[in-house]
This record gives sequence, structure tokens and C-alpha cells, in this order.
Amino acid sequence: MNEASSQNLSTRREFLKTTGRLAAVSALAGVSVPYVHAAGSDAIQIALIGCGGRGTGAAANALATSPQGPIKLVAMADVFENRLNSSYENLKRQSGQQVDVPPDRRFVGFDGYKKAMDCLQPGDIAIFTTPPAFRWLHFGYAVGKNLNVFMEKPVTCDGPTSRRMLEQAEASVKKNLKVGVGLMSRHSRALQTLHSRLQDDIGDVILMRGYRMHAPAGSAFSTRWPGDSSELLWQIQHFHSFLWASGGCYSDFYIHHLDHLCWMKNAWPIKAQSLGGRHYKETHDGKPYVDQNFDSYAVEYTFEDGAKMYMDGRCMNGCNDIYSSYAHGSKGIAVVSKSSDCGFPSMTFKGQNMQRSNMIWQSPVIQGQQDPYLNEWNDLMEAIRGNKPYNEAKRGIEASLVSSMGRMAAHTGQEITFEDMLNCEHEFAPDLSKFDMGSPAPLVADANGRYPIPMPGINRKREY
Ligand SMILES: NC(=O)c1ccc[n+]([C@@H]2O[C@H](COP(=O)([O-])OP(=O)(O)OC[C@H]3O[C@@H](n4cnc5c(N)ncnc54)[C@H](O)[C@@H]3O)[C@@H](O)[C@H]2O)c1
Repeated sequence: MNEASSQNLSTRREFLKTTGRLAAVSALAGVSVPYVHAAGSDAIQIALIGCGGRGTGAAANALATSPQGPIKLVAMADVFENRLNSSYENLKRQSGQQVDVPPDRRFVGFDGYKKAMDCLQPGDIAIFTTPPAFRWLHFGYAVGKNLNVFMEKPVTCDGPTSRRMLEQAEASVKKNLKVGVGLMSRHSRALQTLHSRLQDDIGDVILMRGYRMHAPAGSAFSTRWPGDSSELLWQIQHFHSFLWASGGCYSDFYIHHLDHLCWMKNAWPIKAQSLGGRHYKETHDGKPYVDQNFDSYAVEYTFEDGAKMYMDGRCMNGCNDIYSSYAHGSKGIAVVSKSSDCGFPSMTFKGQNMQRSNMIWQSPVIQGQQDPYLNEWNDLMEAIRGNKPYNEAKRGIEASLVSSMGRMAAHTGQEITFEDMLNCEHEFAPDLSKFDMGSPAPLVADANGRYPIPMPGINRKREY
């Protein structure tokens, strides 16, 4: 199907009718495409690529969406068979008949993404929930196949893949594909209402603060690779430890607050400068950590109008835990996320003191819409079924770049602009599209099991 014809399709039903005809032509031409539902049906098929915690959750959300029409999970891919199998078992238990993934549509390996997406038809949905390094590769393939996409955040970790993905995003818009990005704050009904009333309640936003400070989480801190398996696969399992795989804990953990605070400001920051460091470099029993993260980050972002946004992130035991976000305006203050990434209620107050007597508004709890992870899927599905414009890819890439620029400012000790980050030439995993199960890892341990780490002030143009 060419771009012009795909743009002219007004409904999914028409889309399927047309692709059904094309499928017949392809079959006649001897092109083997493993279609798994009758063309012309309103059934939406899903392929899950990256069958870990979030992938299993996202697929379950997709299958639980309320609007109109049947939906099925038909293919799964992962680089670890055990992860794929346990995800399959969980989803089968939860969603029964909606999970139709026989063994010949379960694909293990780095090329599994292609095989899983080859089971879909144009207009179906591919879910990308691997570590973010693979997003551009998987997204490019999906756009080529006219698939709708849901992909988890962050969507990029460095400059070159952000530029590549911006081009893919543009192509996806031209093709009228629907793309959801897992920045679920944008689908929190509390934050949506806050956004619509923020200026009236608190005036011009001049300062914002995000805090995510808690004990070490995910795979942010790692001790050395045991050496008994593939170093590449080990790094993928410990993806929060490696900037190539995830952008590290800064990008992976702090992107939600950065994204929703910038949304409240209706702008992306133009530059960042930052403090950060690593206090604990070994475990209690003296084993060195080999990951690339700092354990503390304090980033100051500046917007075009001079407004500031501070993001404080810490992964440390025994310290004051704070996990919330705030916006200060010329007339008042807003609690954006009361707890965690986007926890309600959101609130506004007159003046800068958050005392009850100053409260202007508190977000009501909307029955059935409290879960932003489900909301984002209902919103995506409604757009697909109703063929409404819906594409979060560019915004997701921009939020990822804002995360990367704060991280790079900390890791280099330099002021980093949005343009610096976008145009940075350091591609963290240049051979990623060629990975197979025997490939070397993008970072190879030295004799002591260590990897290159940021050296602020010494490495100024690259993070390591
Ligand atoms: N929106 C949110 O609140 C939220 C919450 C958790 C995770 N996430 C995001 O979801 C993504 C996955 O996180 P997770 O916690 O599920 O991690 P996970 O390790 O549980 O799952 C990732 C899965 O992807 C597989 N995988 C890795 N590389 C692959 C490849 N090239 N092809 C196929 N499969 C591959 C892994 O084997 C693993 O099963 C990350 O980007 C993370 O930031 C988002």
C-alpha cells in the first residue's frame, strides 16, 4: 500500500477491506504472509515484542479495553524463552480466549520482532516493551508495514537514534498510523483537568519541581557480569545499568515527571545544567558496582521564557524518600502528581503554601478512569476504531530528548541544550540492528569487570 492510498482510508473497516484485497493480490503473487484473521473483520490483532513486566501489563491492558469490537493477542517475541513463556502463561490465565498464540507464533531471538509483526495485517497493533534501545529498529519495521503501535517510554536514549526516530515518526503521521507512547501521565484524567485549568488557577508557570527519590530500584546498580553467559544478554537483563540499553536510571525513572511538568508548561526546556554523582561505589560486602549510573541527580532545566524546572533523582537507602511533582505559578501552586509517577489527587492552591484553607481545586476521582495505564489504551483503541488522528511518537521522542539532555548535563558537567542533545553524534549501540544471540555487547568489560563511566569535566562531549 502506498502512502497516498493509506491516507485516504476513512475507517478501519475500509482499511481492512482494502488490505484484504491487497492480501489476495499478494497471495496470487506468491508472497507468503501469515495472515491470522479474515480480512474485512473488525477484529484487531496484537503482537507483543518484549514480554517482560510492562509488556505483559500493556498486553493485558490492551485486551481489557472497553470500546467496541474484538481484540486478540496473536504473536509474541522475546530474546529469552522463559520470559516469553511466563508472560504467555500469565496472559492466558487472565485473558483466556483473547490470547491466541500457539507455539509457532512465539518467537525467540533478536529477529523475533520481524516474525511477530509479520503475523499482523496493516491496521493491527504492535506493542514495543523491550528496553528502549531497540525502539527505533522495531518502530521503523512497524511503520514500513503500516502497523499501529504502542511503545513504552523512553523511546530513545541518544542523539542519532532520536533523529532517526523523528523521521520514522513523521512517516507514521503521513501514513495516518496511530501511535501511543507509554507516558501515561498524559492519560491521567486528574492531570488532564489540571492542565486545562492550571493557568486560571495559578497564573503563569515560573517554576516546576519533580522528585523521585527512593531506594535503589530496577537494575540500576549492578555488580560484575558473572561471565558464564552472553554479556550482551546479561546487559539487556540489567538494562537500567547501561546507557546504551535504557539511558540509565535518569532517563528510565525520571521521564514521567519531566514529561508531565513540560506539558503543564506547554513547552520543552531549551537547556539543562546539573549536579550529580555516585556516593556508593560498592555493595555492603565490598563488591564493586560496574553500572554507568550516578546515585544522585539534581538537574536544572531552563525554558525559553526563563522559567525553571528542577528534577531531583536519588536511588539510595535510608534517605528521605520523596516521589511527587509541583508547579509554581505567579498566583499559586499546583500539586501535579501527589505520589509516584502520576498519582492523584492533583490540587491547586492560591499563594505558595499548600494549606487546606488555600485550596482552589482537587481532582475528583472519576469512576472507571482511575488507571492511566488502561486509559492510554482506551484512548488509543478509540482512535484506531474511529480512525481519529492519534500519534504520540514525536512528543515521546522529545520527552526522551529532554531526559537525555538532563542526564548528559550531569554526566559531562556541561550545560547541554536541546539542540546539543538532538545533534549529539555519540550513538550508544551502533551495531544494534545486527545483533544476534552470539553478538558482543556494545560495552565490553575490562579485566576488572568494569565498564566506562561518566567523568564530568573530563569527558565533556560524550557521556563515557
Ligand atoms: N510506563 C511505565 O510506567 C513503565 C513501567 C515499567 C516499565 N516501563 C518501560 O517498559 C520497558 C520494559 O520494561 P520492563 O520493566 O517490562 O522490563 P523487563 O526486563 O521486565 O522486560 C523487557 C523484556 O524485553 C525483552 N527483550 C529485550 N530485548 C529484546 C529484543 N531485542 N527483542 C525482543 N525482546 C527483548 C527482555 O528479555 C524482557 O523480557 C522499558 O522501556 C521501561 O522503561 C514503563
